[in-house]
Amino acid sequence: MNQDYIIPDEWSIIEEGFHKENITSSESIFSIGNGAIGQRANFEENYSGKTFQGSYIGGIYYPDKTRVGWWKNGYPEYFAKVLNAPNWIGINVKINGITLDLNTCKVYDFKRELDMKCGVLNRSFIAELGTGNQIKVNSTRFLSLDINELGAIKYSVTPINFKGEIEFEPYIDAGIVNEDSNYDEFFWEILQIEVEQNEAYILSKTFKTEFHVCTGMKVELALNNFEITLEKETKLNEKSISFIYKTEVNQGETFSIYKYGTYTQSMNHPKEKLIFAAEKVLQKATIIGFDNLLNKQKLAWAKIWETSDIVIDGDIKAQQAIRFNIFQLNQTYLGEDSRLNIGPKGFTGEKYGGSTYWDTEAYCIPFYMITKDKHVAKNLLLYRYNQLDKAILNAEKLGFNNGAALFPMVTMNGEECHNEWEITFEEIHRNGSMIYAIYNYVNYTGDYSYIPEYGMEVMIAVARFWQQRATFSKAKDKYVILGVTGPNEYENNVNNNWYTNYLAKWCIEYVLENLQILKNDYSEDYQKIITKTNFSESELMAMKNVADNMYYPYSEKEDVFLQQDGFLDKELIPVDQLSKSDRPINQKWSWDRILRSPYIKQADVLQGIYFFENKFDANSIKKHFDFYEPLTVHESSLSPCVHSILASKIGMNNKAYEMYLRTSRLDLDDYNHEVNEGLHITSMAGTWLSLVQGFGGMRNFDNTLSFNPQIPKEWKSYSFKINYRGTTLKVYKDHQGCKFSNESETSINIIVNGEKIQVNSQELIEL
Ligand code: BGC
Repeated sequence: MNQDYIIPDEWSIIEEGFHKENITSSESIFSIGNGAIGQRANFEENYSGKTFQGSYIGGIYYPDKTRVGWWKNGYPEYFAKVLNAPNWIGINVKINGITLDLNTCKVYDFKRELDMKCGVLNRSFIAELGTGNQIKVNSTRFLSLDINELGAIKYSVTPINFKGEIEFEPYIDAGIVNEDSNYDEFFWEILQIEVEQNEAYILSKTFKTEFHVCTGMKVELALNNFEITLEKETKLNEKSISFIYKTEVNQGETFSIYKYGTYTQSMNHPKEKLIFAAEKVLQKATIIGFDNLLNKQKLAWAKIWETSDIVIDGDIKAQQAIRFNIFQLNQTYLGEDSRLNIGPKGFTGEKYGGSTYWDTEAYCIPFYMITKDKHVAKNLLLYRYNQLDKAILNAEKLGFNNGAALFPMVTMNGEECHNEWEITFEEIHRNGSMIYAIYNYVNYTGDYSYIPEYGMEVMIAVARFWQQRATFSKAKDKYVILGVTGPNEYENNVNNNWYTNYLAKWCIEYVLENLQILKNDYSEDYQKIITKTNFSESELMAMKNVADNMYYPYSEKEDVFLQQDGFLDKELIPVDQLSKSDRPINQKWSWDRILRSPYIKQADVLQGIYFFENKFDANSIKKHFDFYEPLTVHESSLSPCVHSILASKIGMNNKAYEMYLRTSRLDLDDYNHEVNEGLHITSMAGTWLSLVQGFGGMRNFDNTLSFNPQIPKEWKSYSFKINYRGTTLKVYKDHQGCKFSNESETSINIIVNGEKIQVNSQELIEL
């Protein structure tokens, strides 16, 4: 059974009633972030029950030892861990000396609301302590989009049936550990603790990586919304600092604390200036004030929604879900810093180490490229460009030469840092998605300059890798690619994974085609690149030879490409014949059983068909879908979206909708029973794709933007906006037809259901 306690609402994620068993799940679901920092929705006040504490700072990690039985050449030296950062949200609350702890008192009217329109987390409840004293608590918290080193909390307590002493103890705690750390290991060394009036700062640094972080807090108090000052007591410990403020509060009066928190870190400031920088952030915050900061937050989110909102009429759960996905993607990455990227769990948990995967290039780039200005997607591409040297080193370590690059499957800084050799390392297909992303970007934005300026260096290095990685098989008289894992991680060390072979060939061809364009039209850049990369004509011929003679496993009988050599030797029993008790197979079966089974974790051949759909006719797409989907267990969150898009393409509307629901409410309804570990951020981009490319049928092949809008029967209408080469186009679909409105000053040519249409500036076309 999936969870269903999230209350449907168009703009908010709402939880009502206090249920201890939902705490860790809600801590994930109600997470907040601003692209630079993020926090799980932990309570401000003390909570002695089960909780998963998490505050994260983009880019900050710890290189944990890779633990394996037998070390082999080429293993990555470390596994990167995202670090739980010092906690600045904490406020201990005492009522007449008794600690407020929702785990031990009676809780009424508990409500948590993540207001996605405004980017604010609200919580309210009534707590009854053992003494019978009842208080009403309201808290509002957000991480500022305007000042991305800043967060703010307003926390208010109102005695309901008594008059008494209320105590707030705001603190910074740098004595935090990671949930996944094996031995309560500390990753932070405390360097300095500073106190000034109502402000405190802890300067700390990470062991090994030596990231320096200053965590700061500044506090203001109010009684019935009028600022008050109180004498405070300061408690200084080895790893934490707190202030204690107490006052008598009458029944019905409200005592509030405003707590501003900051992280300033050494990726952005000189180490010796971190405390100073933190002081400046907090000073600015108090000058602007909580209410103004909150207004600015609303405006900043309104701007994001203006270009990225999707409206679904007639299905409130679908509406809530799509906004949740869009909201979380924007909380994770905003595209202004090319050193940051999109971890599969964003800022909502520790799993996947907060690192960058192929998810970014294969799934996320279209979302950011289409809903934002093109510099955002460009920054994601530059992230890899800036790591090219490390990718070349990585390939050298594995025995490749001559500037061949293998981009890491998992990385924080360009170095490979996965912790599963057979599965993760062998997924060399990720190298191809680096080029696919460049193609996607150039194709969509029309910004060809990226290739001569940056892209070609990456492209040559990746093409070199494919040329060297392919082996000439005399037996087959073709090039083969041996010993890989495809996107389907339930097969390891296979030969000739079709997706990998196809992608390798495509990459080489794309690189050669663009080298020719540069040679003809960008000769100066061409010369520079050829000299810089030491690229030769003979190399070009060798690459072409590999591409021209690539081998693909294929079944004549089935008329489909095979996932890998020998795939038909398997016992091909469809997933729907498996007993429920066997699912999910990754939790129920041994690895041995999984590996010899035919079951597919996520789109593999179908991933290739999705990427290169224009190279296959509808009949062939359907044949591949019908062959592979029934064997697919969708045990990766990245799986349902690709299937939903392809199902829409071939008119399998029920399947498309089923897969859509699975991707869009994956976390809200906890389909995979693991939302407590964090959200599936990168697959949220897949949800967006299933709506825009799936139901909307948007495609962009050969410089032509096309649509083929369809609508699930469960909905009344839906609409989305895209930014295409500077034009904002709104697409609306209901059961009567579709509308396209051009909200820009330039006209745009599109194809709708196969027919060419020009939508002029500010024009609305109804079809
Ligand atoms: C998927 C990979 C993905 C990773 C991170 C795995 O479960 O199989 O394709 O890159 O999760 O999202």
